[in-house]
Amino acid sequence: MVFRFSVSAALGLLLGCTYVLATPASSAAPAASTALPPIRSVAQPRFFGAALNSTFLFNDPIYTKLAETQFSIFTPENEMKWEVIHPFPNVYNFTPADELVKFSHTVNARMRGHNFVWGSQLAPWVNDSLTATEMDIILKEHITTIMDHYKKDNIYAWDIVNEIVSDTLNVSTFKQILWTQKLGEEVVAKAFTYARAANPSVKLYINDYSIEGLGPKSDALFGIVQGMMKDKIPIDGVGFQCHFGLGQVPATLQQNLQRFADLGLDVAITELDINTGSTSPTDAMFAQQAQDYLSVVSACAAVKRCVSVTTWGIMDNHSWIVGKDVLPWTGTGEAKPAATAIVQAFEAAK
Ligand code: G3I
Repeated sequence: MVFRFSVSAALGLLLGCTYVLATPASSAAPAASTALPPIRSVAQPRFFGAALNSTFLFNDPIYTKLAETQFSIFTPENEMKWEVIHPFPNVYNFTPADELVKFSHTVNARMRGHNFVWGSQLAPWVNDSLTATEMDIILKEHITTIMDHYKKDNIYAWDIVNEIVSDTLNVSTFKQILWTQKLGEEVVAKAFTYARAANPSVKLYINDYSIEGLGPKSDALFGIVQGMMKDKIPIDGVGFQCHFGLGQVPATLQQNLQRFADLGLDVAITELDINTGSTSPTDAMFAQQAQDYLSVVSACAAVKRCVSVTTWGIMDNHSWIVGKDVLPWTGTGEAKPAATAIVQAFEAAK
C-alpha cells in the first residue's frame, strides 16, 4: 500500500497538521514514516500503548522495532488470559507473559495486566462442574498468585473484570457467563477485593465494549461502578475498549469519559482499532480512519483523568481483525494517516 501525497495533504488540511506523509506518487516503496516523532513522546503525560503479542514480537523485526520506539505501555494480547497462564489446576504458564514483561522493562514501558474475570479464553478445567465455593476459591487463588508473581514488575494497571455488562439489558444487567452464573454479580466485588489484597498500589480496572458513548449499556456500567464505589469496592479505573467501524466513534465519547472521571476514577482507551470494513480500503477510507483515530485520541486528551490510549495491536497484518487494515501501521511498518492523526491529536492537546 502506498499513501499518495493527496491523501496525506488532505488529512493535513483536515487536521491542520505539521506532519505530512511524504510518499512517492508511483512507487512500491513504502512512505518514510521517520517524519513522525515517537508517539510515546508526544503522548506524555499520557501513556500510548499497544496490545503486544509474543508471537510477533519475537518473529517480526519490524513489529519489534515499532514496539521498542512508539509505546510507553503494553497489554498482553493473550498471554495473561486464563487459558494461557493457568491452563491446568495448580499449573501456571508464566513464560509467555514474563517475556513481554521483560521486554517492556528493556524499553522502559509499563504494562496493563489483562485479565481475570472474563467469559472467554477460560481454561477448560474451569467449567460448570465446579461448585460456587470451588469457583470462589479458584478465583482468589488465581488472582493472588498472578498478582504476586508480577508484584515487583512494572505493572501499572490490571483489567480485573472484562466485558461483564450484558448486551441484552432487558434480560439482565450482568452478562451470563460461568462466573456470574456461579457467583452472581458478587463476582465483581470478590475479584476487586482479592486484587486489592494482593497489591495495594496497582490500578484496578473494569473494562468493556459498547460503553464508549452515552447510552443504555454505558448507563448500566455507570450504575455498576457507582454501586461499587458506594460499597467501597476498590476500583480505580474504567477501560473503554473502542473497537469501532469507520465513522462510528460516538459523538459523546468525551462526555462519557468525563462522567466516569467525575466519579473520581481514572479512565483509559484500552483496545482501540478502527475497522475499514474492506479488504482493499480506498484513500478516502484511510482518511476517515485517521479522522476516527483523531476523534478518539482527542476525546481522551481532553479529559484530565484519561491516562492512556492503547491500540489493539500495532500493524495491520498482525491484528485480530484479519485483512481490514485496522491499525496505525501497515504490514511493512509504514505509518498510516492514522498514525499522523494520533500525533496531531496528542500535540493539539498540549
Ligand atoms: O493459542 C491457540 C493456538 O494454540 C491454536 O493453534 C490456534 C488455532 O486457531 O488458536 C490459538 O488461540 C487463539 C488466540 O487468539 C491466540 O492466538 C484463538 O483461537 C483466538 O480466538 C484468540 O483470539 C483472541 C481473542 O481476544 C479471543 O477472544 C485475539 O487474539 C485477541 O486479540 C482478542 O482480544 C480481545 C480482548 O482480550 C478483549 N476485548 C476484545 C478483544 C478482541 O476480541
